[in-house]
Amino acid sequence: MKTKAYIATTGSYVPEYILSNEMICKMVDTSDEWIQERCGVKERRILKDKDKATAFMAGEAAQSALEKGNIDKSEIEVIIVATATPEHTFPSTASIVSERLGIRGAFCFDVSAACSGFLYALNIGARLIESNAYNTILIIGADKMSSIMDYTNRSTCVLFGDGAGAVVLKSTTSGFGIEESILETNGSGYPNLYQKAGGSLFPATVETVINKEHSISMNGPAVFKMAVENMVGCCQKLLEKYKIPKSNVDYLIPHQANKRIITATADFLEMDLNKVAINIDKYGNTTCASIPICLDEWSHKFKHGDRLILCAFGAGYTYGSTFVTWNSVLEENV
Ligand code: ACO
Repeated sequence: MKTKAYIATTGSYVPEYILSNEMICKMVDTSDEWIQERCGVKERRILKDKDKATAFMAGEAAQSALEKGNIDKSEIEVIIVATATPEHTFPSTASIVSERLGIRGAFCFDVSAACSGFLYALNIGARLIESNAYNTILIIGADKMSSIMDYTNRSTCVLFGDGAGAVVLKSTTSGFGIEESILETNGSGYPNLYQKAGGSLFPATVETVINKEHSISMNGPAVFKMAVENMVGCCQKLLEKYKIPKSNVDYLIPHQANKRIITATADFLEMDLNKVAINIDKYGNTTCASIPICLDEWSHKFKHGDRLILCAFGAGYTYGSTFVTWNSVLEENV
């Protein structure tokens, strides 16, 4: 049987501090009712410690995955961190995480694909394993969205939160694991969702700070329309291309951008909401962390052979969907 990658373990980390809708209502002109109805968010977690950021959360999530899977850090050959809020422009957050975990000599790099980052990273890792170049790969999605949030802008600050999730991919010839994917980019979305300043086009100046150009800028309705179109669209493409009947999908693990986007995708797949991972109410949109946090919170439900669709949409625009047949570690080790 051909070599595949499978998810051997999952882990996650969210900060303790809770920013509730009631608290947001004191910061901007909004209401708990509006946020819950239009976005599905009740509260989000914020990393308050001044000396901690994305690499800290990524390290915590990775550590919990390694412990849960009883995997020794010496086994990790590659670390890929998906993030839109890296610790610094350089070095990569992955290299900082490697040092935090005490792993030296691994092949470490970051992936930039906004909210689709984890899905992109997962697929890169899976293909590295399928090529037989590596056996054990740590994939992390982590974002400190509060570091690029303008808490006077009600159209963005209600949506996002901080967190991290991690999985370890291992190789298997059991026939189960990361299967087919659709991964695409439509660069026309660039002006609708970006962080204007801080890169090489608009380096930080007094003006960029005064104009709040280091915060996320989003044309909400335009992004919403494209998110629904492409989350549904890439699930449809995946099912058609690989001839997977809708009835063969056991769970949907969607990126948590907005509950209305999630339910539109679930409706297309004709899936009961109890088969859809939803935790946007607790954490908001944690960007690259949302899918791996969902995987970690839902993995206890999955049985060997269960069929999952993971799908995401984010700035770029980037989007994609991946079909996974769940491989239980216990059975793999028998
Ligand atoms: N509270 C109260 N009213 C609000 C708020 C708020 N927080 N935000 C906007 N409104 C108002 C608007 O001002 C507008 O009022 P008006 O009609 O008087 O002008 C009205 O609500 C409707 O505004 P819309 O922007 O059309 O609201 P919409 O229903 O589209 O919801 C939202 C806005 C939640 C941002 C939605 O558009 C959305 O979820 N967009 C997609 C987000 C997303 O998927 N991002 C991608 C991933 S992020 C990444 O990649 C980093």
